[in-house]
Amino acid sequence: MPKSLFQDKVVLITGGTGSFGQAFAKRLLNEDQCQKVIIFSRDELKQWELLQSDPIFNSSKSRFFLGDVRDSDRLRRAFHEVNFIVHAAALKQVPAAEYNPTECIKTNIMGAMNIVDVAIDLGIEKVIALSTDKAVNPVNLYGATKLCSDKLFCAGNIYVGARRKPQFSVVRYGNVLGSRGSLLPLWQKLLIQGVTSLPVTDIRMTRFWITLDQAVDLVISCFKDMQGGEIFVPKIPSMKVVDLAEAIAPGMPLEITGIRPGEKLHELMISVEDSRHTLEFDNYYAILPESAPWDASYMTKFLAGRRERHLPDNFAYASDTNTEWLDANKLRSLIKKPS
Ligand SMILES: NC(=O)c1ccc[n+]([C@@H]2O[C@H](COP(=O)([O-])OP(=O)(O)OC[C@H]3O[C@@H](n4cnc5c(N)ncnc54)[C@H](OP(=O)(O)O)[C@@H]3O)[C@@H](O)[C@H]2O)c1
Repeated sequence: MPKSLFQDKVVLITGGTGSFGQAFAKRLLNEDQCQKVIIFSRDELKQWELLQSDPIFNSSKSRFFLGDVRDSDRLRRAFHEVNFIVHAAALKQVPAAEYNPTECIKTNIMGAMNIVDVAIDLGIEKVIALSTDKAVNPVNLYGATKLCSDKLFCAGNIYVGARRKPQFSVVRYGNVLGSRGSLLPLWQKLLIQGVTSLPVTDIRMTRFWITLDQAVDLVISCFKDMQGGEIFVPKIPSMKVVDLAEAIAPGMPLEITGIRPGEKLHELMISVEDSRHTLEFDNYYAILPESAPWDASYMTKFLAGRRERHLPDNFAYASDTNTEWLDANKLRSLIKKPS
C-alpha cells in the first residue's frame, strides 16, 4: 500500500460528530493508516450515538474528546501531539445565527481565533478550516462569521514565523446533499408526514451541491496540495431548488413561501474580485493569498509540476451561471431514501 499523507499521524476533527466530521472520521478509520482520529465536540450524547452507530468508532484508533472551540485551554489539551486538524465545528443555521448573533460570533469567529492561536503555539503541521459559499459577499450573519473565519485562517500563516508550521488553508464548498438541518431531510420528513405540497421559498433559486463523499475527497486532496493561505473551491454542479422537489416528489404542487431573511437567490463561490488571484486546476479553483508572506519558492511548491490556468477577466463562480447542472433525474439518482 502506498504511504498515505496521514500514515502514523494524529488527526483531530473539531465538529467530529457533525455531518462532515462523521464522514471524514469514518473514512480515515476505515481506509487510512493514521495513528489516531480525535473527534472533538461539545455534546456527549452525539458522541455516544456516534460511538454506537458503527463499530469502526470503537476502534483503538478513535478518541472522543468533549470540548468547546470557545475554550482555548481545552483546545490546548486536545491538540497535544496532534499533527493535522480539520476545523468543521460551527453554528451554521442561518435563521438561528440572525436571532443569536453573539453565539454565532463566539463559535465561528472566536473559536477560529482560538484554533489558530493554539495550533501555532503547539506547532501543529497542517490545519484546514471548512468554509461555505455563504461567506462570499455575505448577506447573513452566518456567512459574515465564516468570512471572518476564512480571513483568520489565511492570516494565521503570517504569524507562524520561520518554522512555517502550521500551514493553514480553507476549503469552501456549497450545500451538502442531505446534511443535518438542510432542505432535503426537511422535505423528506414532510413527505413522510403526508403533506400534499412542498414549501419552496422562490422558484428561481439555485444552489451549488456537493455530496459528503466528494467533500471528504476534496479535503483529503487539499491536505496534500496546500502550502498555506489558499482557499480551495471545488468544481461542483448547481441545481434548481424546484428540480430537487421534482426529484423527490414528482408532480407535487409547490407552496411558494417567499425568500427568507438573509437568504440569496443564487450563491457565489468566487467573486469577480477574488477571481483575479485565483488559479484553476482540474478539480478545483485555488484562491491564492493576495499579500503573501511566503518566500519565493511558494508558487513552485504549490504548483509542484501541475498545470494551472488563469481565469478570464470578470470571471465569477456563481450557482446560476455555473456550466455544470444536476437536473431532477440526476438528483434522484444521488438521493438516498430516508431510513
Ligand atoms: N452542511 C452544509 O451544507 C455545509 C456547506 C458548506 C460548508 N459547511 C461547513 O462545513 C462545516 C461542517 O458542517 P456540518 O454540516 O458537518 O455541520 P453540523 O452537522 O451542524 O456539525 C457541526 C459540528 O460542530 C460541533 N460544534 C458546534 N459548536 C461547537 C463548539 N462551540 N465547539 C465544538 N464543537 C462544536 C457540533 O457538535 P456539538 O453540538 O456536540 O458541539 C457538530 O459536531 C461547518 O464549518 C460548515 O460551516 C457546511
